[in-house]
Amino acid sequence: MMLRRVASGLMIEKVRVTAMGEAPALLWFAMRAPLAALWRRRKPCYGLQRVEQRGGWTMRDNQYHRITRRAFAGSALAASIALTGAAKAADKMLRPTALGDLGPFYPVERLADEDADLTWIKGHAKRAIGNVIEVSGRVLDRHGNPVQGADLEVWQANSVGRYAHPNDTATASLDPDFQGYCQIRTGAGGDWRITTIKPAAYDSPIGRRTPHIHFDVRGKSQRLVTQMYFSDDAASNAADMLYKGLGDWADTALASLDGAAKYRWDIVLMDG
Ligand SMILES: [Fe+2]
Repeated sequence: MMLRRVASGLMIEKVRVTAMGEAPALLWFAMRAPLAALWRRRKPCYGLQRVEQRGGWTMRDNQYHRITRRAFAGSALAASIALTGAAKAADKMLRPTALGDLGPFYPVERLADEDADLTWIKGHAKRAIGNVIEVSGRVLDRHGNPVQGADLEVWQANSVGRYAHPNDTATASLDPDFQGYCQIRTGAGGDWRITTIKPAAYDSPIGRRTPHIHFDVRGKSQRLVTQMYFSDDAASNAADMLYKGLGDWADTALASLDGAAKYRWDIVLMDG
């Protein structure tokens, strides 16, 4: 079989030399191998392309080519590694924080004091009523990079579930010493921190609202309006219509306990 192939090859080359003449034939022999190499390089065949084909056939150079078992296994392995790498990269990305509702109590009046300590209003003799808590975290993009200079507006109900807002007609009492709103900006590490009063639950037209704090976050290229919930209010959260509506994303809106009266919550903006 091998001898017949060699003989056949020699016969073809003899015919080619006869037809072309000796000089062109020698040039052809000299250039054939590099030209063939260039042709092969012009059409790279990617492992993923092969795996996409069915039944061990692939489309290359506008033709179907049979894939040997070894080549198919090799390309399948390469594709598998590539896909696993992509999945791992996706796994490392942070899930963006769930969108929330602005709600009917976004402040309509600016305050004289809008600093990060909501428990004291400048010039007041008394601190706000209720359990003082510290809430801190970072603003990050989905790759985990800190978003420096993000502007946060924060507002919430007081210790008995009342907003200092004309739309809030609840009979629960207002606390004149509770600031209820602040504006802060993230630092170099995307860090932010507030001192406030643990808000109480309250009744609303859509049912009882579990304790929460409202955030309006403006990053470099994205704005996020959301609500933060407390992880130690699990039963109350489970009965809240808006919290339940977050579904699988609820955990992104949940602050974790980080010591006595301290909560941590990172806000993730898709693009920072
Ligand atoms: Fe609210």
